[in-house]
Amino acid sequence: MDHSKFEKLRREQYPLTSRYAYLDTASTGMLATRTRNALVDYIEYRYENGLTLSEFGENWKHADEMRKTIAQVINADPEEIFYSDSTSGTLNVFSAGIELPENANVVTSGQSFPSTIFNWKNRVGHNNVRIASPENAAMPSQKLFDLVDENTAVIALCLVENTTGFRYNLKEISDFCQERGIYLALDITQCITGMKIDVKETPVDFMAAASYKWLGGLFGVGFGYVSKRVLDKVHPAYVGWTGVKDRRPAADFSLTLSPNANKFETGSPNWVGIRGMEQSMQIYLELGADDVQEHILTLVDYLYSQAAALEKVNIVGNFAPENRSGIVYLTIPSEWNITDELMKEHGIRAHASNGPAGASIRVALHFYNNKEDVDKFIAFLKTF
Ligand SMILES: Cc1ncc(COP(=O)(O)O)c(C=O)c1O
Repeated sequence: MDHSKFEKLRREQYPLTSRYAYLDTASTGMLATRTRNALVDYIEYRYENGLTLSEFGENWKHADEMRKTIAQVINADPEEIFYSDSTSGTLNVFSAGIELPENANVVTSGQSFPSTIFNWKNRVGHNNVRIASPENAAMPSQKLFDLVDENTAVIALCLVENTTGFRYNLKEISDFCQERGIYLALDITQCITGMKIDVKETPVDFMAAASYKWLGGLFGVGFGYVSKRVLDKVHPAYVGWTGVKDRRPAADFSLTLSPNANKFETGSPNWVGIRGMEQSMQIYLELGADDVQEHILTLVDYLYSQAAALEKVNIVGNFAPENRSGIVYLTIPSEWNITDELMKEHGIRAHASNGPAGASIRVALHFYNNKEDVDKFIAFLKTF
């Protein structure tokens, strides 16, 4: 693959890359220049002109049209997309709204971001959430399947784990769930627009994503996906004027919900955040899902090979290629006392932690990173 389009994008849209090896997308992504412009233009227009009611309506037209772009990113249909705020809030749409039989249990992973576990505990109770333990930071699908019984209604996972960078074997898990009528719910915040997701190839029932990490956007805006297969089995816990079939209020206040996933929208969304999210999604679609994944995984391979040559540094999990993602954790000696601030002073943005389990650095590689970023980071580690 020709990587020059990635270099061009980096040069033209991500000026921060000239100051830093920016390896911290798993915390927050960089804003592209065109994302920044879309955000600023929106705010400037409102500041200069105010917003009429008909322009308010234009916002809705734009947001409804943009469902197509979001759908394209995961190969879904626009009717399966709804706007939301945080990942955690979005996950609750499914856990609170899905019809479940009595005594239903949910299988998840001990590596999960807490919201995945919390929202299911809130729905089915502490004892009905079964948490699989990782093996050397990996989670073979069989470890999840071993916890499944006839009462398992849902497998809920973060497709890429923020705690290790492990990427699940989605095909295996999706097939397993499809064959048994188990719902599959995924938090995709740590891989959206990084690792390829195609819900037509590998069916998923529900997904949630925020825009501030891999989507390079603002906080408090994201989206949810509900498969058409299950849409009528998920009931909105909250309703409002925007999730109805016709946004003009009915004279008799009859409540007719939208037949589409936008039934989970209750009021005016974060218009400016949506404009920002649109830009990064367009960048991703222009680059192409397959090429982005290949670009990232090539960089990850390169980081693996460079880190393997360092003494006292270990790659957490040392995952098989199919379980790698844009996130890599490295263990380092605690006495190196590496912090985020120290790395920043050396022109590197990544996340270091130093806890009872030892010290580590989380490195995230996105489509705006290149080999020089990895080289700069490795050169920094070599100074210890
Ligand atoms: C996998 C995952 N999900 C969710 C979140 C938090 O997202 P939000 O604040 O939008 O709920 C994080 C943050 O690190 C995360 O890593």
